[in-house]
Amino acid sequence: MTVDGEPLDFTEGQTVAAALVAAGRVAWRTTRVGRRPRGVFCGIGVCFDCLVTVDGVRGQRACLLPARADMTVTTREDDDGDDDGDDG
Ligand code: FES
Repeated sequence: MTVDGEPLDFTEGQTVAAALVAAGRVAWRTTRVGRRPRGVFCGIGVCFDCLVTVDGVRGQRACLLPARADMTVTTREDDDGDDDGDDG
């Protein structure tokens, strides 16, 4: 799959979150308030800490998504509905 424009290897059956962690990325977004780092917390789809954009669809839980070779994943977008990097 592609993550932030770079190829990322994964093992069949891994989730997007598992592939990111296996590649050494333990945080891939920040909180809206305070800009604190977030990655996997619960790992079961409850906390929404692991959000990524997949194929242009924002707010996908990386811990629930099986990795696919044709996926395009984007991380580190702000949470205010645009992609300008601020909260406004
Ligand atoms: S880690 Fe909690 S929803 Fe994905």
